[in-house]
Amino acid sequence: MKALKLLSIVMVFSLMVILSACGTSKTNGSENNSEKKTLKVVSNAEYAPFEYLDKGKIKGFDIDLMEAIAKEAGYKIKIEHVGWDPLFVEIKGKTADLGISAITINEERQQTYDFSTPYFVSTNEILVPKGSNIKNAMDLKNKVVGVQNGTTGQEVVEAILGKNSSNLKKFDSTNLAIMEMKGGGASAVVADNTVVEEYVKNNPQENMVLIKDEVNFEKEFYGLMFPKGSKLKADFDKAITKVIENGTYAKIYKQWFKVDPDLNLLTEK
Ligand code: ARG
Repeated sequence: MKALKLLSIVMVFSLMVILSACGTSKTNGSENNSEKKTLKVVSNAEYAPFEYLDKGKIKGFDIDLMEAIAKEAGYKIKIEHVGWDPLFVEIKGKTADLGISAITINEERQQTYDFSTPYFVSTNEILVPKGSNIKNAMDLKNKVVGVQNGTTGQEVVEAILGKNSSNLKKFDSTNLAIMEMKGGGASAVVADNTVVEEYVKNNPQENMVLIKDEVNFEKEFYGLMFPKGSKLKADFDKAITKVIENGTYAKIYKQWFKVDPDLNLLTEK
C-alpha cells in the first residue's frame, strides 16, 4: 500500500514536470519574449557621438537608442565593436543579428541587406583647416580628400573627384582620415555632419572649420541593418515607432545633442 502511495506521488510529480516543460516550449514560440536568445549587434565604435569606445566600454547615441529599442522589442542584446567592413561581412554572413553604426539607408546596400525604418537624419559635411580655400563641395576637385572607406562620404566625394581618383584617400575610420589631414596629407575630410561637428567642438585648439553643401550632399537617413529577410525587422520597426511615440527617443536625443529632435524629418523618408 505504501509503495502504491509513493508511486502515485511520483506520477503526479512527473506529470507536473512534463506539463511545465510543455509550458516553456509553448512560450518559446509565442509572443512571450522572455525566452528569446541574446542578439549580437555589431558596430564600428569609432564614430562619436554615435558610437565610440570609452575605456573599453561602448557608448554613444546609437548605443543608448539601441538598448531602448531592444528593451521595447523584448530582446536581450550584446553590442560589439567589430569595425566598419567586418560589420557588413558579419551581417551578410549572419554571424551577427543586426548592426547599428550610423548606417545610411541607400539603394546599393538595400540589395544585400534589410533596414529598419529610419531613426536619424544626416548629411555629409566637409572638414577643413581654418583658412582653407575650399568653400563648397565643388572646390574639392583636384584636392586630396580623406574619407572612411566604404561610407557615403566616399561616394559623394567620388561623384566630384571621379571614381578611381588618386586624390581620394580612404581610411578604416574617419578619425584616421582626420589625422591624415592634420599631418598635411589631405586638404579636407568628408563625413557625417554630426560627427565632424562633434570633432570641431571637442578639438577647438586644432583650428578646423566645417563647410556645409546642401546642394551637392543630400539628406541621408540612418537605419538598423539586418541580414536580408531577417524576421527581426518587423519587431524592431515596431519598437522604433514606439520609442519615438512615447518620448524615449526624444529623451535620448536631448541627452546627446542638447536639443529636441525634429521628428517630422524622420517621417519624410
Ligand atoms: N553614414 C555613413 C554611411 O553609412 C557613415 C557611417 C560610418 N559609421 C561608423 N560608425 N563609422 O556610409
